[in-house]
Amino acid sequence: MERVRLTGDYEKMLPGAGAGRLKSGIKGLDKIMGGGIPRKDLLLLTGTTGTGKTNFCLQYIYEGVTRHKQNGVYLSFEELPESISRNALLFGWDFRPLEKAKRFSFIKYDPYHVEDVFDILEAAIRDNKAERVVVDSISALGLYVRDKAELRRMIFNLSLTLKKLNCTSILVSEIVPGSPGLSRYGVEEFVADSVVVLYYERMNGNFTRAVQVWKVRGSPHSEKLHPYKITKNGFVIYPEEEAFIKTRR
Ligand SMILES: Nc1ncnc2c1ncn2[C@@H]1O[C@H](COP(=O)(O)OP(=O)(O)O)[C@@H](O)[C@H]1O
Ligand SMILES: [Mg+2]
Repeated sequence: MERVRLTGDYEKMLPGAGAGRLKSGIKGLDKIMGGGIPRKDLLLLTGTTGTGKTNFCLQYIYEGVTRHKQNGVYLSFEELPESISRNALLFGWDFRPLEKAKRFSFIKYDPYHVEDVFDILEAAIRDNKAERVVVDSISALGLYVRDKAELRRMIFNLSLTLKKLNCTSILVSEIVPGSPGLSRYGVEEFVADSVVVLYYERMNGNFTRAVQVWKVRGSPHSEKLHPYKITKNGFVIYPEEEAFIKTRR
């Protein structure tokens, strides 16, 4: 992979940036977002399967609970909580004691009661006094909601509810390889305050991982593609380096 050293320090681009922001816990992300995730905002995380979206979100929650005393809730539409929990352990993130201490909870999703899922989420947030929330992913929800307008309304209501509850949240949207859009349904990015896109693309025979901050409402941010790695300690972004891949976006 070709890499270039960058000189821009995005954190310093906005006076006072850093106030009203959450430390994401993802190495390098705060810097390319202009100083962390704006508090009470909804961040849309998109990418194809295998880009590391679930790992990214687990790290966001785990670091928040263990380092910043911000409780978390993880709503998973795809993987079972047991399997997510097992995978998290491989990175050294043990969610079990956090669950016992009511500082964290996984929500088991019941596909037969999709209309109740956000009420369950809200109850879990109140119960845990959670400040960090993940919904992984909204793409699965679309399978159960026939009407696109209805889906849009659901996502919009979800974002309002999360803000009302003072949560800073990540909404995952899994995109189909080769599709030109930023998200699965093309509505998620309009509801979200920030958008981060993950790429895993073939370049000269090798697969390259790259991340782009597409928008951060009310803030400057890096406009470059940056390389990232998934290491045994989790997700690492390289803010001083630039990645070169062909993207369709
Ligand atoms: N312990 C690990 N060390 C390094 N890379 C890992 C590890 N665990 C998972 N990965 C990488 O993360 C990818 C899956 O990440 P995941 O968060 O499940 O992706 P997504 O949710 O976007 O589909 C795997 O394909 C693998 O490349
Ligand atoms: Mg996933």
